[in-house]
Amino acid sequence: MIKKTIVQKPFQIIIFGASGDLASLMLFPAIYNLYAQKRLPENFQIIGYGRTKLTRNQFQKIFHQSIVKKYGQNPYKLTQLIDHLYFFSGPYDDLKSYENLNQFCKKLAGTEKVDQVAYFSVPPVVFADLIVNLSKTIKNSNNKLKLVIEKPFGTSEKTAQELVKILGKHFDQRNIYMLDHYLGKIPVQSIIQLRMENNIINQLLNGDLISNIQLTAFETADIGQRIGYFEHTGIIRDMLQSHLLQILSLITMDIPNHPNRNSLEREKYALLSAVHFSGKKDDLVIGQYQGYQKLRGVKKNSKTDTFAAVKLSIDRRQWFDVPIFMRAGKKLGQTISRVVIEFKTMPFQNHNCAVNKLIFEMKPAEKIELILYKDAKHSKSLTKMGGTVSLAHNLACVGDECLTEYATLILDILNGKKDYFLSINEVLASWKITDDIMKTKNRSDLLNYKGGSEGPKSQYRLTKKENFYWYES
Ligand code: BG6
Repeated sequence: MIKKTIVQKPFQIIIFGASGDLASLMLFPAIYNLYAQKRLPENFQIIGYGRTKLTRNQFQKIFHQSIVKKYGQNPYKLTQLIDHLYFFSGPYDDLKSYENLNQFCKKLAGTEKVDQVAYFSVPPVVFADLIVNLSKTIKNSNNKLKLVIEKPFGTSEKTAQELVKILGKHFDQRNIYMLDHYLGKIPVQSIIQLRMENNIINQLLNGDLISNIQLTAFETADIGQRIGYFEHTGIIRDMLQSHLLQILSLITMDIPNHPNRNSLEREKYALLSAVHFSGKKDDLVIGQYQGYQKLRGVKKNSKTDTFAAVKLSIDRRQWFDVPIFMRAGKKLGQTISRVVIEFKTMPFQNHNCAVNKLIFEMKPAEKIELILYKDAKHSKSLTKMGGTVSLAHNLACVGDECLTEYATLILDILNGKKDYFLSINEVLASWKITDDIMKTKNRSDLLNYKGGSEGPKSQYRLTKKENFYWYES
């Protein structure tokens, strides 16, 4: 029987940007998730910090609504959890306010020694203020203050380097948690686990056997309330820069002997620094959905990409002729989040025959699927065989108790486990690739596509198969 991971030490999490969307949609449900499963100690406090002037009571109501929205009316033990919530309002650039916050936190902790976490649920433009002010106040009282910073870390390699510089000046790397929530997803963590533990899967993930890899993150959702962020970010920086490149690195990196954080980090970084974008316009398709420009907050003639498909390569012997297709888009006909690995056929086989595939799927289902085709010699039909492993009740579950991706990662942060967080080197290497794509984006045509469709119609003359590489349907 797997033992349930719990947090034993008393703690405080200060959520900066606590009145925003990310907090309500992801962080509050994650905290509830951990609490309802009795994984938190008796003594802890969640302190919201934001520019919006909220009373403690108002903040508790917002929290309450977010949980009811996710888990339905009367969620188990919610009233007790609400007692652990506080709110402190103030600007991000005023040192005095952080001094007061520090006093406030000390008073709440009383005589108890508590672990403290500062969670940045704010736009990157305020990161620098937070880092500097926290280092002069709370970190002075608690040298082990942990910082949690969500992707995107900066907007380019240059701005990420600036962020790294400022972080390095004020905080010890060991206390910085760079979070990409995809690394909290069960199917993504399963890639590492399977590769570590299952040699058959690991032997299959060999570039000599693979004809191509396709990573897809399609959403039916549009940009909704997030224009302020998305308009100057675009899909390439939003989805490819961290989420998809991280998954690619997990699938194609060399497997370290010891699955500890340092070796994982070394191998992921080695892989990411070998990923290459050609700079050719033909290797990038970008699009914007019709109606995007009518949204409030979007610039007239905005060039923001809401769809992108890109062809990458990996500069390593076993991967050098394996094209990597990455595609992501908003307001499409389907929500799909998966990696399809297509295997090579044998030289004497009919090249049009269906190919064997290994699929890691995050959405719509959480599963790993191996599809094997039997090429029936005398008939045109193919027999599909293979197996599917459903992951829903796997890694993040103990019995019926499963954790959301954010809950998994918050649990790790509170327990000081950094395996599923990013290193600075990985972040910079990913930006280097993204910057190269962005340069080409500026020279490429932004294609229009209808909401609910498969994305923009290709401007190239593509065969059905090639078309599939760009737009999974
Ligand atoms: C976020 C992006 O990081 O991931 C969003 O900023 C995107 O634009 C989201 O919708 C997708 O996450 P998930 O877990 O729903 O696949």
